[in-house]
Amino acid sequence: MVNVLRFTDVTYVRDRRPILDGIDWAVEDSERWVILGPNGAGKTTLMKLATANDYPTTGSVEVLDQRLGRVDIFELRNRIGFVSSATGRRLPASETVRDIVLTAAYGVEGRWNEQYDDVDVRQAERILAEWDLADYVDRAYGTLSDGERKRALIARAVMTDPEMLLLDEPSASLDLGARERLLQMLSGFAQSPHSPAMIMVTHHVEEVPPGFTHALLLRDGRAQAAGPIAETLTAANLEATFGMPFELSVSNGRYAAVAKP
Ligand SMILES: Nc1ncnc2c1ncn2[C@@H]1O[C@H](COP(=O)(O)OP(=O)(O)OP(=O)(O)O)[C@@H](O)[C@H]1O
Ligand SMILES: [Mg+2]
Repeated sequence: MVNVLRFTDVTYVRDRRPILDGIDWAVEDSERWVILGPNGAGKTTLMKLATANDYPTTGSVEVLDQRLGRVDIFELRNRIGFVSSATGRRLPASETVRDIVLTAAYGVEGRWNEQYDDVDVRQAERILAEWDLADYVDRAYGTLSDGERKRALIARAVMTDPEMLLLDEPSASLDLGARERLLQMLSGFAQSPHSPAMIMVTHHVEEVPPGFTHALLLRDGRAQAAGPIAETLTAANLEATFGMPFELSVSNGRYAAVAKP
């Protein structure tokens, strides 16, 4: 067991408002965490700290055993895979899907004059096939549907063999079929012992991939509950987090929640 992330009494204050408040949280390499919470709870802010894209106001954040503020964050970011709507928007629409994945190996966001090794090209194509995009390698990234684009971004994020993979709302805006396919793939990835630690933000318990082991529920910047998923993702904790009562069911590892009448 290796610790990949450790937050100790972390606050993040902007405009004199605590956006994160007293967060204590640790993630080990074998764990797969889902983060749930209302709009504005602080989920994306937490992801920014966990990916070394921002610093806490007080408290300490250790990412892959390095304390933020004391390390070369560029070297650290190479060891982290991150997918969010913002990471997708930064990539050039005219680039081929193969190059979108390949450029990750060289730490760039668009192809310039790099010479790529055959071994990297083969790895990019193998990863794209794993994420069901073998037929899309020569397509321009900008022509992909939202669902295809999400899978291409995940392929890009895992190209560097990261020690931690973070996904901020990967299934937002996907249709039912695309969402279910992505969930199956994330579930398979989560259950492989070769996969890195995973942290996924979602708005819906229906989008928790089977195989995810832990949950963190955030409300108003505070951890309402955190721990192994079976004891954390409960109706009582959802009510405390979202401020309304739910009926929660679990079947074959899939969760469903509806408001209590
Ligand atoms: N740099 C900043 N300055 C001021 N306020 C900020 C800043 N960053 C985030 N916030 C505020 O902090 C709160 C938490 O934002 P964050 O994006 O982390 O929420 P979230 O849980 O990801 O929400 P959503 O589910 O809508 O994506 C929001 O009210 C947001 O407006
Ligand atoms: Mg967010």
